[in-house]
Amino acid sequence: MMPSSFRNPAGPVDSLLSALGESLRTLSGAVSASRPSPCTDRAAPGSSDDRTLSAGLMRVNHTGEICAQALYSGQALVARDPKVRVALESAAGEERDHLAWCRERLSDLDARPSLLDPLWYAGSFAFGVASGLAGDRWSLGFLSETEAQVERHLHGHLERLPADDLGSRQVVEKMREDEIRHGATGRALGGAELPGPVKAAMSVASKVMTRTAFRV
Ligand SMILES: [Fe+2]
Ligand SMILES: [Fe+2]
Repeated sequence: MMPSSFRNPAGPVDSLLSALGESLRTLSGAVSASRPSPCTDRAAPGSSDDRTLSAGLMRVNHTGEICAQALYSGQALVARDPKVRVALESAAGEERDHLAWCRERLSDLDARPSLLDPLWYAGSFAFGVASGLAGDRWSLGFLSETEAQVERHLHGHLERLPADDLGSRQVVEKMREDEIRHGATGRALGGAELPGPVKAAMSVASKVMTRTAFRV
């Protein structure tokens, strides 16, 4: 059966054009936050090693948020149940805040986003569409598992960020709080538990992303 978004009055061409516009806005940095950044201390860490560490970790977080935009956009494009699409779009709004906050923090740290972001966007969008086409239960299960892995990863960053990088800590703590809620929403809407090998493959992809985005 054709996904509902492809049967809506706007039609498939409008849906695809809107997804394309979203990708260009995300990758060009033309995204503004709807909530103020939790970062109230804009100072960079004192030592140059710590500044390099903070920049690497916040670049990884920025790329993670690029992936989140792409995943949600792909999933919402083919979601069958309007309730699911609304939940995906509302979470995507919060992810847009995360993206803008991370980008702002990167510029406080005098660092740039990863050069590989367009590749990660394309791959994550394809994953989002594929999980959406598998059905809403699987799509929501994929969302919950993604959010659980992101939450663990942000927890690790809170342990690794330099002690005097208060601004990055404020951003990561607020993002972590939101990701926990996104995961809970996915489960509440009936997300299925993913098979172990799928979870393991997602974890490998995320390790590749975090290692490359830290440097490139
Ligand atoms: Fe996020
Ligand atoms: Fe999230």
